[in-house]
Amino acid sequence: MKVLGIESSCDETGVAIFDAEAGLLAQALHTQVDLHAIYGGVVPELASRDHIRLLPALIRQCLRQAGLAVAALDAVAYTAGPGLAGALLVGASVAESLALAAGIPALPVHHLEGHMLSPLLSDDPPAFPFVALLVSGGHTQLMRVADVGDYQLLGETLDDAAGEAFDKTAKILGLGYPGGPQLAALAARGRAGSFKLPRPLLHSGDLDFSFSGLKTAVLNVVSSPRWRMERAADLAADFQQAVVDVLVAKSMAALDATAMSALVVAGGVSANLVLRAALDAAGAGRGARVHYPAQDLCADNGVMIAFAGAQRLLRGERPAAGGVIRVRPRWPLNELARPRANPHETPPS
Ligand code: KG4
Ligand code: ZN
Repeated sequence: MKVLGIESSCDETGVAIFDAEAGLLAQALHTQVDLHAIYGGVVPELASRDHIRLLPALIRQCLRQAGLAVAALDAVAYTAGPGLAGALLVGASVAESLALAAGIPALPVHHLEGHMLSPLLSDDPPAFPFVALLVSGGHTQLMRVADVGDYQLLGETLDDAAGEAFDKTAKILGLGYPGGPQLAALAARGRAGSFKLPRPLLHSGDLDFSFSGLKTAVLNVVSSPRWRMERAADLAADFQQAVVDVLVAKSMAALDATAMSALVVAGGVSANLVLRAALDAAGAGRGARVHYPAQDLCADNGVMIAFAGAQRLLRGERPAAGGVIRVRPRWPLNELARPRANPHETPPS
């Protein structure tokens, strides 16, 4: 079964072809970082236009790479949400039109489900059930994952997502967009421990998060008359350590609460090496395994969407024929259902 995957929810245009039998056949990714960098963040209209410009070429490139004609595809999977409405509509329009023309099903995929299942592509994939820590630019959530489509929300951020806190703190420290990787690089040159930054909700007794106060604490340090820019690396290291401490403690608490021994970490922030080392150490201390996507699949990409679509099709999901263009810019992951015949996921609300 060969599935073409299309990702266009934010600032990456991603396309891939995943074959349930042979694995990944092709992938193409275009990042819009240069396009948005001068604005310090993603400009939605520019994102949509760039997806329109590049999607047809990337699809052709993947088909060529895989040596396939459109007629050889079994389905087209695309990100239907959450994300930027215009950007999602580009991917949905292309996917639904292509599927309609080819007479194959189009499958709307949840972006976070794509992230969450991507560690299953690794050589040593996790087995269900597991706890998932989803840390992206827009979401920070802990999920109890029984199977594909069987998700129970255990806790989530009450304000900023972890990635968003990285991005905002990077901006405060004068770093460019996207902030997360740049802040992590700066932190690697510093030493944590000299600033007393808070660990929000660390002892709240639940599995929720809050990161906006942490960003404000950094702003307060930088606004002080005693602040010296030479200390930016140390402050970045302290900020990163505060986020990591909270993510690790809550993830371990989620493993305890669910009596599980496997943790899956996914979303852009899962690329962070300090986070990975701390989770690995904490997990090992209690006999738990921590699974991550390959480094090149942490950020948004088409592979995870093709793969998630294939997982649903393999489990019996039978979407309607292509042609209905609907997206859900806001779409809670735990509203998803297990794969079933003819679901057409009930967007939009
Ligand atoms: O999953 P993702 O690529 O896009 C969304 O679905 O939001 O996540 C992007 C987020 C951004 O906030 C980015 O700054 C953050 O992931 N990020 C990182 C790192 N790499 C990306 N945060 C911390 N450390 C990193 N190495
Ligand atoms: Zn993402």
